[in-house]
Amino acid sequence: MADSGVNASRAEVSPRQEEAVAGGVKRNSRDSDEEDGATAAKRGPGLGSVVATHYNQLQEVGRDARSHSRILYMRNFNNWLKSVLINEFVQRVRADGRGGALSVLDLGCGKGGDMLKWRRASIGHLVCADIAATSVDQCRQRYNDMRGRGGGGPIFSAEFIAADCSKELLSDRFEDRSRTFDLVSCQFVYHYSMESQAQADTMLRNACERLKPGGIFFGTTPDARELVKRLMKAEGLSFGNEVYSVRFPDKTSFPLFGCKYDFHLEGVVDCPEFLVYFPLLQEMAKKHGMKLLMNKTFAEYFRQKSQEKEHRILMERMQAMEAYPPGPGSSLVSGNLEDYEHVKTSLKESNQPHGNVGTMTKSEWEATSLYLAFAFVKEK
Ligand SMILES: C[S@@+](CC[C@H](N)C(=O)[O-])C[C@H]1O[C@@H](n2cnc3c(N)ncnc32)[C@H](O)[C@@H]1O
Repeated sequence: MADSGVNASRAEVSPRQEEAVAGGVKRNSRDSDEEDGATAAKRGPGLGSVVATHYNQLQEVGRDARSHSRILYMRNFNNWLKSVLINEFVQRVRADGRGGALSVLDLGCGKGGDMLKWRRASIGHLVCADIAATSVDQCRQRYNDMRGRGGGGPIFSAEFIAADCSKELLSDRFEDRSRTFDLVSCQFVYHYSMESQAQADTMLRNACERLKPGGIFFGTTPDARELVKRLMKAEGLSFGNEVYSVRFPDKTSFPLFGCKYDFHLEGVVDCPEFLVYFPLLQEMAKKHGMKLLMNKTFAEYFRQKSQEKEHRILMERMQAMEAYPPGPGSSLVSGNLEDYEHVKTSLKESNQPHGNVGTMTKSEWEATSLYLAFAFVKEK
């Protein structure tokens, strides 16, 4: 299998930027002691309604339409990566002595795209929460359909909450007010809460306050260093390619909170997001009794996990890579030959110019390699 060949090394943040960020964290965390985060988060409308409207309006497309998407393999790859993450942390909490019925919170569940992964992991209970009420309804429907269809073994119990998780405390809404979690999963969501310190802290509180000791909070989010690195390399205020684009309002100031940029991903995302500077998240998480377990770019995580046979088998089953050259009767997702230059080069270099490999177009890889995966464990 060929790697995309795109250099995924991380951007360096200058000592001055590091200093500014570190100073900012201290300043901001002193401020936050003076007011309860959830109370402060409720102040002001913010961009939550824009985000909720965007996701509510997103059409649920069927398998057939999905299979024609320009970013089919990127989506499959992201799903593969989430499956591997879920399995990794399910196994880890089980190894920690937790038996059968794991309790999980999916923070920003969307339409329930990860529900099947949770079923395969044989968890006991799932709480699904999202700001977009229509998505939560579709998620509930998906669960009911899955349960109705039977097959695939017993299914977890579930509950569904429509709430802005950066402004509302979820614990007030649980069916069982004393509920605690073994795992909290927050996939492609946390960056929306970085609009303000109060919102980021409330989201974090929702993720961490009901975690059992030894429980894990894990997720995926855009990597601020990579975003800023690409912005600095760009001529103007935007960068991207035919599948994604990012636009910043300027190139000189990157506030710790509320550092907004507009993000567009072909047919899936078109809304404002906020930079998540990871050392800041790590610092904030400490306040909630969380210790860093992992922080890896998607490129790093992919390289590590694809060493193992079981993950490569899953990759094939989930079609997380595009076959190059395409099989008989199939065509490549991109008509742009430059998108496959890296594969040709790597095949030539390995003396197999006519070999078959799994790959991803350069454009999709550039989009997916913007992200990182993280995990924190609740201190015992
Ligand atoms: C890119 S989607 C990811 C959905 C799902 N986690 C997945 O991986 O398929 C981002 C999700 O975050 C949700 N979201 C954004 N801001 C939120 C907030 N403040 N509270 C709860 N959910 C939020 C959106 O409604 C959307 O469903």
